[in-house]
Amino acid sequence: MRIGILGNGNMAEALGTHWVRAGHRVRIGGRAPDKAAELARRIGAEGAGTLADVAGFGDATLLAVPYGSALDVVRAAGTALEGRVLIDCTNPVGPGFLLTTDGGPSAAQRIAEASGARVVKAFNHCADSVWRLAPPAVPLCGDDEEALETVRTLVRDIGGEPLDAGGLERAGLLEATTAFLIGLWLSGQDPRAMLPVPPTAV
Ligand SMILES: NC(=O)c1ccc[n+]([C@@H]2O[C@H](COP(=O)([O-])OP(=O)(O)OC[C@H]3O[C@@H](n4cnc5c(N)ncnc54)[C@H](OP(=O)(O)O)[C@@H]3O)[C@@H](O)[C@H]2O)c1
Repeated sequence: MRIGILGNGNMAEALGTHWVRAGHRVRIGGRAPDKAAELARRIGAEGAGTLADVAGFGDATLLAVPYGSALDVVRAAGTALEGRVLIDCTNPVGPGFLLTTDGGPSAAQRIAEASGARVVKAFNHCADSVWRLAPPAVPLCGDDEEALETVRTLVRDIGGEPLDAGGLERAGLLEATTAFLIGLWLSGQDPRAMLPVPPTAV
């Protein structure tokens, strides 16, 4: 499929590399098109351009910019993202590992509202190094079944396993869980220790 990636940083590289290898047509969009072109060259993507160029390209589009700029980026795309499958991997996490969404709608819901796209929250809960090397199960939150099916395919294409995690109204839980996990990891604790499998679940 055609995949547009908005952003040319770590997440763009981590996921874009897998998707190029899986045979997808990937284009990288950046606010500095020379940086986008450099990433496209490095991972073997078919091309690069401005954010606006790439917003209108994908059967699926990955939004891989900081949450603080995400709403401006999708608004700047005008109608180009309307109705498209938009994967939101942003983490609205600020000082103290608290959410910058301040108890209001989730980042994913705000991005959906600002873009008119069919947003699926995914790939936000692990670091880019994990996506590069050992992709785990990937919780997906979204309201559009066709969009979810597209993203399930893209999860399997990176070697992960999709987990259906409910509608977009649950994306805020995933964002908060991730903020909590990041806080634990970065304070030297291992959050995997708090999630034993209940005997009745196996
Ligand atoms: N890295 C991780 O481990 C990880 C894991 C899960 C989720 N995420 C989320 O994924 C998203 C991308 O993270 P990343 O690690 O890939 O970040 P990154 O390496 O810092 O790259 C950020 C990208 O966003 C662009 N950007 C920054 N400010 C912008 C603005 N005002 N307008 C337009 N573009 C802007 C940057 O452009 P320039 O290159 O021109 O500066 C760059 O292409 C974030 O929302 C982050 O929370 C990250």
